[in-house]
Amino acid sequence: MRMKAVRMSVGLLGVLAAVLLVRPTHSDTQAAPIPDETFMLMVKTDLEYLSKWLGDSKAKDAKKTLKALAAYLALAGQNQGSKLLRDEALKMADAIGKNDFKTAKEVADKLASAKLSTGEKLDALKWTGKAAPDLAEVMDPFRKAGPKGGLGMEKDIRDGKKSVKELNKIVLAAQRSALIAEITMNLEPDGGFGGKKSKADWEKHTKDMQQYALEVVELAKDAKKNEAKLKATLGKLDASCVGCHNVFRE
Ligand code: HEC
Repeated sequence: MRMKAVRMSVGLLGVLAAVLLVRPTHSDTQAAPIPDETFMLMVKTDLEYLSKWLGDSKAKDAKKTLKALAAYLALAGQNQGSKLLRDEALKMADAIGKNDFKTAKEVADKLASAKLSTGEKLDALKWTGKAAPDLAEVMDPFRKAGPKGGLGMEKDIRDGKKSVKELNKIVLAAQRSALIAEITMNLEPDGGFGGKKSKADWEKHTKDMQQYALEVVELAKDAKKNEAKLKATLGKLDASCVGCHNVFRE
């Protein structure tokens, strides 16, 4: 078993070049571990966002985004083998689901100062209580950022097709997209499958989303060298979103 402590502080993405290559899992939507530095960038960014919003009197307005972020963190903890992150993030998602933003903030703050281990062998993730996100929640952070949450991830992906200057934003959007794919794999559209809305299509778009998202994370490790391919892959990632929306989003 590989176990190691990860510092909460995250360096700039530049350090990623020095990190071991982690193979993306192209063929399935099971665990998709990513380099620790990339993982910690997301953990730190999302815990900061959660802590800030959960302490706001208007937290409820951003509930969908907050719940989604907690759920992504739980899944990231699972994939990365971090029991503490997984279990606490599940508690946070459940508390947000119950509008108990105070408890959720306590968990976020506790996690923000915790020392996380990765590489632990974990049992399967169980979405307890109200932790499991639904489709509207899981898609919410893609929306434009504003007073009701949203992280502008769709825009970050689309901007990335033209310029990879905002590399951290691109990597965060891609990382979260890979996690989202794991969740949508087990969800279905409103009204279920049938007719033109086939399950096979849903799964194809989901797998495409995950594959291209993981490729983006991989390519971003040397964004300078990979710039053209990175932009092209962001284009493919965007096409997987549009492909699914064309059929399944009303
Ligand atoms: C497997 C199918 C599928 C994939 C892949 C997919 N989406 Fe969605 N998306 C949906 C469906 C269905 C909805 C409508 C959800 C609802 O509100 O019930 C949706 C909703 C959204 C919304 C609206 C959220 C809101 O609350 O207004 C945004 C924005 C969005 N998706 C962005 C993306 C982006 C960006 C990607 C790719 C990185 C993506 N989606 C990939 C199916 C998908």
